[in-house]
Amino acid sequence: MTQDQTERHVMFVSLMLIVLFAGLMFFVLSTAQANPAPDGAADSATFRTKCAMCHGPDGSGSEVGKSLHVPDLRSPVVQKLPDAQLAQIISDGKGGMPSFKSSLSEDQVHSLVAHIRSLRGKK
Ligand code: HEC
Repeated sequence: MTQDQTERHVMFVSLMLIVLFAGLMFFVLSTAQANPAPDGAADSATFRTKCAMCHGPDGSGSEVGKSLHVPDLRSPVVQKLPDAQLAQIISDGKGGMPSFKSSLSEDQVHSLVAHIRSLRGKK
């Protein structure tokens, strides 16, 4: 190989490496997007950050919650309430339960209602 050919060979190899690397990154990113979090993960994240301090991660009630007499969200007392009423309680608050109207969107309230439904039967 002449000096010139060697240089071109090096250029070619580095270019291939860059293309390969870019391809790999693209592959990694696209598979990451193709596998979003499992269903309900977003609702339970909201529940953990906004509600679990009183209701516990599973809805049974934390220590703080129990001192405020939170009902067990898995219990029939709560589960028999219609979605609209659960949504209204989450938005407006009730007794020792704060109002979340200003910090949660309507969509978030609705997915929290769905999350509460998913707690049923986990007792
Ligand atoms: C500061 C503590 C606290 C936080 C935070 C809290 N709650 Fe409550 N929650 C309560 C209390 C206390 C009650 C009981 C209210 C009552 O019946 O007087 C309650 C009751 C409820 C009920 C049942 C109401 C009924 O009539 O049976 C639901 C459903 C509920 N909360 C959902 C949520 C959701 C969803 C969140 C998060 C967005 C949340 N709570 C955050 C304290 C809290």
